[in-house]
Amino acid sequence: MPRTLIEPFRIKSVEPIRMTTRAERERLLEAAHLNVFKLRAEDVLIDWLTDSGTGAMSSRQWGAIMEGDESYAGARSFFRLEAVVRDITGMKHFVPTHQGRAAERVLFTVACKAGQLVPNNCHFDTTRANLEVLGVEALDLVIAEGLQPATVHPFKGNIDLARAEALLKEQGDRIPFGMLTVTNNTGGGQPVSMANIRAYAALLERHGKPLILDVCRFCENAMFIKMREPGYENVSIKAIAQEMFSYADGATMSAKKDGMVNIGGFIVLRSDEWMEAVRNLEILTEGFPTYGGLAGRDLEAMAVGLVEGMDEDYLRYRLRTAEYLGERLDAAGIGFVRPTGGHAVYIDARTVLPDMPVAQYPGWALANALYLEGGIRGVEIGSVMFGKRLDDGRETFHSMELVRLAFPRRMYTQSHFDYAAEVIADTKAHAAGIRGVRIARQPKYLRHFSCECEWV
Ligand SMILES: Cc1ncc(COP(=O)(O)O)c(C=O)c1O
Repeated sequence: MPRTLIEPFRIKSVEPIRMTTRAERERLLEAAHLNVFKLRAEDVLIDWLTDSGTGAMSSRQWGAIMEGDESYAGARSFFRLEAVVRDITGMKHFVPTHQGRAAERVLFTVACKAGQLVPNNCHFDTTRANLEVLGVEALDLVIAEGLQPATVHPFKGNIDLARAEALLKEQGDRIPFGMLTVTNNTGGGQPVSMANIRAYAALLERHGKPLILDVCRFCENAMFIKMREPGYENVSIKAIAQEMFSYADGATMSAKKDGMVNIGGFIVLRSDEWMEAVRNLEILTEGFPTYGGLAGRDLEAMAVGLVEGMDEDYLRYRLRTAEYLGERLDAAGIGFVRPTGGHAVYIDARTVLPDMPVAQYPGWALANALYLEGGIRGVEIGSVMFGKRLDDGRETFHSMELVRLAFPRRMYTQSHFDYAAEVIADTKAHAAGIRGVRIARQPKYLRHFSCECEWV
């Protein structure tokens, strides 16, 4: 067998990307107040801001779009998608939503009340926000290894079962259900093992609590199980996914990830308990439950995308891509969250800028430097995102200074990754010239999206 693992697709339609000069990028970044969120996408060469809704659809998906039935109620496209989702999840009830956070909002509004508590490995930020807005505490119980960037563990997304059990014993009356996010985005796109899902589900069941999965990246998680968990080497991705779902009572999904579409999501539930209220709330805010805020063509694209997302050749290439960039970074002496996850590589900015004070935001400085050096856009996950300016003017800082490079699906080829590896290595070589920033203007919440910065 040849050793080179190729992209398992060929390209039918292309979207040009624009080369810029360093002088141009310096001007554009200054005009964006040193905040890459404020850049125009056309001024970015390689856009690795997020893997959500940014991927390339296949010719089959574009073909299916023409089959979209745009009927308000009972559209053929709904039933086609429902059959695909039922086959994978085994759940009785399915309602589409316009994206993941809408699924969260609808389900949580029905299933939770103020004062309750939901344990998860790590809540994604919209999941946390949708619980907190209802007065529900969102508790992260990922295993200790999941919080140590340099520690290698095959399933760093696992939930700490001992802590979950203690919590269920002490505060079970506050817990409406347990959650598990596969893969664990907040913790570096790290997978959860089948053994962990099974044991957590059994633990919850002993306490009479349902398990709700956040399954944005269930295909990538299934592939990690196949590659790393003994006993699953010869099991198909679909069968692994079916087993993962078999332990759950329901799930929320942003199909903008492993659903391989640009927009869409859904809720699935096994029992009838919450269903009537979910359907009623859907009608109120998302749309009739057979379209859920989507066009019939979106439902068709999702029906095809969910099956393509489980393709093993695609998943092998997908996970290998992140691993490959990790190897190139390793060779250049750059630290990152290990092992690489499914959808992204998280660079440890402190290994590039060890002497930059945290008050100059080394993660943010590195994200800016990658854009200046080679037109690459990533996102800081550090003290701008998670730190705060207190009322007395003092700052709080995050424990890690990371830059996440998240890969849209089926969009960039190996030479894009080779180029990125060179840019990152060159950035490190020129690290002495990288400037820190101070925040000149910031909103009260989620400041990273819109803050304005100045060079220190
Ligand atoms: C784990 C996880 N859950 C939920 C969401 C929310 O999905 P959406 O962006 O479609 O609302 C995301 C999006 O990035 C995610 O990564």
